[in-house]
Amino acid sequence: MSAPTLDALVSLCKRRGFIFPGSEIYGGLANTWDYGPLGIELKNRVQHEWWKRFVSQRRDMVGIESGILMNPKVWEASGHVSNFGDPLVDCKKCKQRFRGDKLLEEKIGVEGAAVLTLEQVQPMLLAEKIKCPSCEGLDWAIAKKFNLMFRTQQGVIEGEGADIYLRPETAQGMFVNFRNVQQSMRKRLPFGIAQTGTVFRNEITPGNFTFRTREFQQMEIEYFVAPGTEGPIFEQWKDDMWQWCLDIGLAPERLRIREHTKEELSHYSSRTIDIEYKYPWGWGELYGLANRSDFDLSQHQKFSGQEMTYTDPDDPTKKFLPYVIEPTFGLTRTVLAILLEAYEDEKLKEDDTRTVLHLKPIVSPYDLAILPLSKKEHLIAKAEELYKKIVQSSGLHVDFDVTGSIGKRYRRQDEIGTPKCITVDFGTLGEDTAQGEKDTVTIRDRDTLKQERLTIADLLKHLHPPTA
Ligand code: GAP
Repeated sequence: MSAPTLDALVSLCKRRGFIFPGSEIYGGLANTWDYGPLGIELKNRVQHEWWKRFVSQRRDMVGIESGILMNPKVWEASGHVSNFGDPLVDCKKCKQRFRGDKLLEEKIGVEGAAVLTLEQVQPMLLAEKIKCPSCEGLDWAIAKKFNLMFRTQQGVIEGEGADIYLRPETAQGMFVNFRNVQQSMRKRLPFGIAQTGTVFRNEITPGNFTFRTREFQQMEIEYFVAPGTEGPIFEQWKDDMWQWCLDIGLAPERLRIREHTKEELSHYSSRTIDIEYKYPWGWGELYGLANRSDFDLSQHQKFSGQEMTYTDPDDPTKKFLPYVIEPTFGLTRTVLAILLEAYEDEKLKEDDTRTVLHLKPIVSPYDLAILPLSKKEHLIAKAEELYKKIVQSSGLHVDFDVTGSIGKRYRRQDEIGTPKCITVDFGTLGEDTAQGEKDTVTIRDRDTLKQERLTIADLLKHLHPPTA
């Protein structure tokens, strides 16, 4: 299956209610996107699966939900005020701004661009003759560091409120609550804290649909370990993250692991790997895994004046700052990768193609669709009765679609990735044995297109929520 073009996916997402351009009726707001009825179902399912796998089903994990707004000192301690920025270059001719490192990536590679110092960016752009993507000029200003945090004001009186930031990562909420969580939950090392939520970054060059946006969602884990034990734990998380990618339906040939070079490491990290996905425009980051050592806890201890140490329950004389392994997952980026992976324009016959999303059942917006063959009232009533039974007995998410020909409805369900369709017809009612026996229905498989006739009793017996 070849990767779809981004345009094809964007069009399907709008047409079928997955993702809409933000504020569209006002002409939009660049690079903002709203999740529609099916997009939110898919995203919620990914988040739910993630939480189930990494929090609910593990004794060594707990979750929290911290605020988006935090004391500004948090961001001084974390290093975001001084270090969280990208090299920005202005085109002197058309006054447009770009990320200098991104402009250079094609010429000198991702790793090469990531290690450039601020002073090197403009001379390198000129040496490599990189033209302005907007006006094709070659007149770059000196690069400046641009802090990516969104700044806002707290308080009702303009000008009198304190400057605060919208959080650029969920991680710090977990670090500042380390002692609260450890003590209230009586956790022993190693243990992890997880949270999911919205973060904000004033990206200089957002784009590629939802790949890089200024508002997005993360699912992060801070896994606290005794110093010296982090090596094998890092490897285990690498394997667990890889397996997660496979279980949500990403193909191994479109996944790879990239180790960060020393020069490329973030200010807090002593080792980082990225799990990269092959997007239609090339390889790019999907997830990250970092060894943050005791950087964050020691910084918060220093800036807050509060002790952040852990006391060994077996030997209370041993007090130390735990090390942290951080598996980080972009939720909105996961949704994009899943959709890209699942999309296919499939040729069925010489003159017949269909668009289909081969979504894994654990993430598809609907588990099933019930399609009454015609709009006859008593047939719809029978289909509705079945709908209620299925929803109440299995907890599955079921679509009910009566509009259009049965062929068109099958195609619509293929496009939104519904794994199975159930057709209720006059056979089901006992009115037409040519269609089937009384109290039987047709079940159609999205991927194989095979249709089977089975009794409603058998159907109900075999329905259960999908598992990875
Ligand atoms: N706490 C560490 C941290 O935030 P990061 O690599 O900056 O690390 C984590 O971000 C994940 O968030 C990335 O792996 C990616 O999936 C996602 N992400 C980062 N920037 C993004 C953006 N502008 N738009 C969408 N997702 C983004």
